[in-house]
Amino acid sequence: MTEAKKLYIKTYGCQMNVYDSERMAEALGASGYVMTDAPDQADMILLNTCHIREKAAEKVYSELGRLKPLKLTNPDLKIGVAGCVAQAEGEEIMRRQPAVDLVVGPQTYHRLPAMEAAVRAGGRAVDTEFPEEDKFDHLPKGLHTRRAPAAFLTVQEGCDKFCAFCVVPYTRGAEVSRPVARVMTEARDLVARGVREITLLGQNVNAYHGEGDGGTWTLARLIRHLARIDRLERIRFTTSHPNDMDDDLIAAHGDEPKLMPYLHLPVQSGSDRILRAMNRKHTADAYLRLIERLRAARPDLLLSGDFIVGFPGESDADFDDTMELVRAVGYGQAFSFKYSPRPGTPAAERATVPDEVASDRLHRLQALLTQQQREVQAAMVGREVAVLFEKPGRLPGQMMGKSDYLHAVHVTDPRIEIGQIARVRITHSGPNSLGGVLAE
Ligand code: SAH
Ligand code: SF4
Ligand code: F3S
Repeated sequence: MTEAKKLYIKTYGCQMNVYDSERMAEALGASGYVMTDAPDQADMILLNTCHIREKAAEKVYSELGRLKPLKLTNPDLKIGVAGCVAQAEGEEIMRRQPAVDLVVGPQTYHRLPAMEAAVRAGGRAVDTEFPEEDKFDHLPKGLHTRRAPAAFLTVQEGCDKFCAFCVVPYTRGAEVSRPVARVMTEARDLVARGVREITLLGQNVNAYHGEGDGGTWTLARLIRHLARIDRLERIRFTTSHPNDMDDDLIAAHGDEPKLMPYLHLPVQSGSDRILRAMNRKHTADAYLRLIERLRAARPDLLLSGDFIVGFPGESDADFDDTMELVRAVGYGQAFSFKYSPRPGTPAAERATVPDEVASDRLHRLQALLTQQQREVQAAMVGREVAVLFEKPGRLPGQMMGKSDYLHAVHVTDPRIEIGQIARVRITHSGPNSLGGVLAE
């Protein structure tokens, strides 16, 4: 037998890419590849890329420039670009960086083994199709490489919403939901391997409409069904759109104990004028009323969000509306970005806000969000929370886990094992994590 070929994958962007990278590793595992953490040891390097903002896309080209010299020391090294930059730019990537041998979009990973063979035979391979067949059904079965107690499971892909700033509908394609039976099989398989927490993924995961017993299922119905799996203790989902939060999903936050009290619900802006220009199709008030209903169902729900500042046409008054909305909600966690014009999207044609203005707004918004995050964390001190321990911490004897509210929690106690869910009393709050002791 020849020595196994080594595969190095670097993942950018969202959790869907994290999930896809694992599936790509499995697909190439069937072609004889084992994973390596060292790019200079690899026979194949894949960059699983993100196109969401200009900076994210440019990172790929600088990384490719850094990797190129490795081909001099290992003439057998092949370099591939996968993910959303691959989908958006296709063959253009090879023109810009001739060291690239392979370009594969997010919907054709199952074709990687054939593409790899073509590249090994001396060719180049590009596949950015949106194929008829479902990529998930054509990946090797039973080869899940993930061993950690918390796992991702993609149940939905693509987006039909076409927010004016966003590339996702173009890079990931139209909304598709995986059938219930397939999701259940994958979930049971993960649980049999020791997984105790599953995060259901989708670009618009709460728009899930998979085929199941008796017709089309909603995300709420899927969650309630998953919750019946013994040994699966925690369920989360991300990312959601406010317009797809139906009554049953809101109710599930109150009556389904395995559904964790954390919700990432992006709003982007607090100004109705900007929300309209963004094509978000709801008002700031509708969002606030939705949050009220969610909190009525689950009063301790920790809310997370995404914000864009400096969207074309955003005035000082529009930005003040965003700050106002943030104060009204009180986020436990949030992501905020300066608007980045993306080629091919409607907003890219519009006049931009001056960069200094956008930067100043971003600083002010981030200061407020950071303050809210710290307050929510500080309020955890003295409380008892459940923590699923996932890995050793940075200090000797320390273990790291996630609380129900998705806070990173570290505890130093020799009794703790990975995969265990324990009650922890929070004793202090740091900038990005909480510390505590096992509750007696
Ligand atoms: N499906 C999710 C978002 C996916 S993209 C949703 O609808 O909320 C993640 C975040 O990136 C978005 O919520 C948005 O805040 C940000 N984003 C997307 N396009 C952007 C752009 N052109 N410029 C700046 N931020 C952007
Ligand atoms: Fe992008 Fe909007 Fe779709 Fe989210 S809902 S992925 S922001 S187009
Ligand atoms: Fe980026 Fe594509 Fe995800 S653009 S955020 S990797 S869907």
